Amino acid sequence: MPSSFSSSFLLLCISLPLLLLLLLLLPSCSSNHLPYGSVSFHIDCGGPTPSTDRFGTEWVADRYFTGGAAGIVSEPLRFSLPQEKTLRYFPLSSGKKNCYIIPGLPDGRYYFRTFTVYDNYDGRSHPPSFEAAVEGTTVFGWRTPWPSGVAQTGAYSDLLAFVRDGEAGVCFYSIATDPPVIGSLSILQIDPESYNSDSINGTDFILVNYGRLDCGSGQWGPGFSNDTDLFGRSWQSDYNSRTPSTRKIIDAISTSASIKGTDQAPNYFPMKLYQTAVTLGQSGVIEYELEVDAKLDYMLWLHFAEIDSRVNKIGQRVFDVVVNGENVTQIDIFKQVGAFAPFDWNYIVKNLSSSFLNVKLVPVVGVPLISGLENYALVPIDLSTDPNQVIAMRALKESLRVPDRMGWNGDPCAPTGWDAWEGITCRPNKDRSSLIIYQIDVASQGLKGFISNQISLLSDLVSLNLSSNSLGGALPSGLGQKSLVRLDLSNNQFTGPIPDTLTVSHLQLVLLNNNLLEGRVPEELYSVGVHGGAIDVSGNKGLCGIPPLPDCPMFWENGGLSSGGKIAIGLSCLVVFSVLLLLGYICCIRRRRHDYDFALPHELMSLSAKRNKYQRQKSLMLLEMESQHAKALPSPFSPR
Ligand SMILES: *[C@@H]1O[C@H](CO)[C@@H](O)[C@H](O)[C@H]1NC(C)=O
Ligand SMILES: *[C@@H]1O[C@H](CO)[C@@H](O)[C@H](O)[C@H]1NC(C)=O
Ligand SMILES: *[C@@H]1O[C@H](CO)[C@@H](O)[C@H](O)[C@H]1NC(C)=O
Ligand SMILES: *[C@@H]1O[C@H](CO)[C@@H](O)[C@H](O)[C@H]1NC(C)=O
Ligand SMILES: *[C@@H]1O[C@H](CO)[C@@H](O)[C@H](O)[C@H]1NC(C)=O
Repeated sequence: MPSSFSSSFLLLCISLPLLLLLLLLLPSCSSNHLPYGSVSFHIDCGGPTPSTDRFGTEWVADRYFTGGAAGIVSEPLRFSLPQEKTLRYFPLSSGKKNCYIIPGLPDGRYYFRTFTVYDNYDGRSHPPSFEAAVEGTTVFGWRTPWPSGVAQTGAYSDLLAFVRDGEAGVCFYSIATDPPVIGSLSILQIDPESYNSDSINGTDFILVNYGRLDCGSGQWGPGFSNDTDLFGRSWQSDYNSRTPSTRKIIDAISTSASIKGTDQAPNYFPMKLYQTAVTLGQSGVIEYELEVDAKLDYMLWLHFAEIDSRVNKIGQRVFDVVVNGENVTQIDIFKQVGAFAPFDWNYIVKNLSSSFLNVKLVPVVGVPLISGLENYALVPIDLSTDPNQVIAMRALKESLRVPDRMGWNGDPCAPTGWDAWEGITCRPNKDRSSLIIYQIDVASQGLKGFISNQISLLSDLVSLNLSSNSLGGALPSGLGQKSLVRLDLSNNQFTGPIPDTLTVSHLQLVLLNNNLLEGRVPEELYSVGVHGGAIDVSGNKGLCGIPPLPDCPMFWENGGLSSGGKIAIGLSCLVVFSVLLLLGYICCIRRRRHDYDFALPHELMSLSAKRNKYQRQKSLMLLEMESQHAKALPSPFSPR
């Protein structure tokens, strides 16, 4: 049956691309045993092909980046894992800001791990200075020179952050023209309740790893060993964090017995963490010193399990936990959970006065014991750009065909510590809950596209300057937000009529000169000058209606004779009569217009003549306008 054939064919036509799309969007589920969401990505930055490492982690070839180029470390043999040997770097020709943006993710909490490596890949012996941000909040700062070990062999960093906009963004910002580098990037969805504490709301912070130690063990975890950690966390040896006096008396112990109740929601702390521990062979104090940045607050997690079978009663092992000299709790593991069971305790450390965080376990009964210790910096979430304005800016990036060198990648305004996209000025909104686009100035950038109608979403835009490009197409009706005060579209190839929407804004300066616009200049736009502003529509062959432009032909609207007009002219003298009436009406308006004493031919000409002066005084003028624009500041060429 031809009809059923065609309908199934149609179905195929619809479903096949959908399926392909789904496959494309579907994250690679490399570990299907993940407890939460099972979304994971391992990106081999700079890597040309997908690979599986010797621990079974599947790496995808380099993708999801906004620019830059692939590089290879200078001594690949120094690196044991293939994904560590390649990297991506972002030279200034790719823009000051570049990102990895992984789309199509369910919102929720994620574990991010980056590998940052230099190893003189560019032969310049100059490890770069740059910053990295996750989800619009600056989390890492690299400054040249790097510690020599790190510069040669690279370093892993990880953190926990919420994704709320369906895509994970890791962005890099070049400092002093240095190209940022990245060796690999992994992200894994984790339980949104994980690492929550009673005293802070985890959604307000990014938790940056400042030490994740498994006491009495070597480094392990997914990507480094065959041991499982269902969150993909890596665990380091605690050796380097022990104070020298502790190193002398420490006694590392381990068990192969299983620990009841590990690997459970929401934190899925792995059993291996509790199967080793450090304790003391003689009486004394276990003391750790962790390097921190004193400007931040920290979340400390201590992990315990009684794995010494000689301790089998409450009160046999009791010790105080002293953080930076302050006794914060007393712990009896057996009293809390019995033996061979995990006990986790967390504490928020505020108001640090030095760059070390000191943790001491002071014995009360017996000797102390500890299995693991985690320390996270609490980095407050930065403001990000209003989501609608992000949509608008992405549409404009496409439609204006903004070149790579301008670095229009990631969030247009965030992080607040970085410059916004080149040519963009941002501000916090009224209730300081998000950032908004205030000004766009991309004049003389060789742009060849058009203005997307999505520009209407920029509801706080005050000033738009696209002058002296090669932009074309019609002016969208989306232009004319109430906030707009200055509009400079001069010296482009815009065609079609001036949209009526432009007349609803509070424009003070409208420069549309030297384009290919046509049709009647809207009356209200014309009155801009009356309110102390200025307008220039010269150099457009097709415009009409205001002096010194020619009068508009009858029934001229939106750049052409209206169809109603054509019919009317062809039909009856009744219409001719109304035309005469209308003509009279137009004359009335024009006479009224002369009453305004506005924009006489010589004044419009002198406006163009003054253009150069305005350019030179731009910064001063902008300053003045910004402080006074609410009060209708007289512009230097408002007609008098
Ligand atoms: C944390 O804040 C978010 C929104 O800001 C809220 O939905 C959530 O309930 C809060 N959680 C806690 C534990 O207070
Ligand atoms: C990890 O396990 C895989 C298979 O289970 C094995 O082939 C590989 O040799 C192991 N790697 C190490 C370093 O033990
Ligand atoms: C430390 O604090 C705990 C309660 O948090 C208390 O029981 C213990 O006696 C204190 N230790 C010292 C030495 O003050
Ligand atoms: C930290 O310092 C602030 C102001 O300096 C103070 O208000 C606050 O109570 C201090 N917090 C702690 C835990 O000491
Ligand atoms: C727009 O930018 C150009 C080039 O920087 C400048 O000459 C012109 O004065 C600007 N226009 C406005 C209205 O600021």
